[in-house]
Amino acid sequence: MLINIITLFPEMFTGVFEQSILHRARETNKIEIHLINLREYGLGAHRVVDDAPFGGGGGMILKPEPIAAALEDLAETGHVIITTPRGKHFQQADASRLSRMDVVTIICGHYEGIDERVTQLFVHEELSIGDYVLTGGEIPAMVITDALTRLIPGVLGKDTMETGDSHYNGMLEHPHYTRPREFRGIVVPEVLLSGNHEEIRAWRESKALEKTKTMRPDMLCKKTSGCECRNNKDED
Ligand code: ADE
Repeated sequence: MLINIITLFPEMFTGVFEQSILHRARETNKIEIHLINLREYGLGAHRVVDDAPFGGGGGMILKPEPIAAALEDLAETGHVIITTPRGKHFQQADASRLSRMDVVTIICGHYEGIDERVTQLFVHEELSIGDYVLTGGEIPAMVITDALTRLIPGVLGKDTMETGDSHYNGMLEHPHYTRPREFRGIVVPEVLLSGNHEEIRAWRESKALEKTKTMRPDMLCKKTSGCECRNNKDED
């Protein structure tokens, strides 16, 4: 899979993409990440990428020409995404959907926003990672890249299963324990030491349900069709 990232700050990505699982995924050619410096497509001697908004108001807007030029310089753009706080909430199902694509291009939003014609002409979806405003779309682009990369077959070790993840099935995950059996007076639940796979599965299922009820009751609500409570008013 190829992920193109168009950004004013390519250096922000290097540390994140050169560590751990993302690093290994690149080394083993499970993903190729192509960082495109938007500044190189800026206009004139000063490589201008932004301008004041028509109609007045504060802040600067990313101009359409540099973004268009950066996109048109790519061999293939595939599915084009903009990261913006006004986008659809990025969720596990989106990570799963995107992980099955061959080419994804992420345009990192900046300043007050991006000229709307970029969205109209080139963009397939606008994604937000949450209801808060960050200084730019770079961290959201990293979040999206990380979440989809770990779902590409062969990226995680063979004994790590996506099906056990929080959010995989609209539920949070069950608690985990490792050695030692007792730590500061707290002992590992007996069932996990029993070797009885059916009992362990049932215990994990009930703990996942308990955790979801406590931490994220809205998730259970979304699983219940026809539920009219306020938790069900979000977008999916
Ligand atoms: N850019 C700034 N804030 C953002 C957010 N919450 N999600 C996506 N892009 C953003």
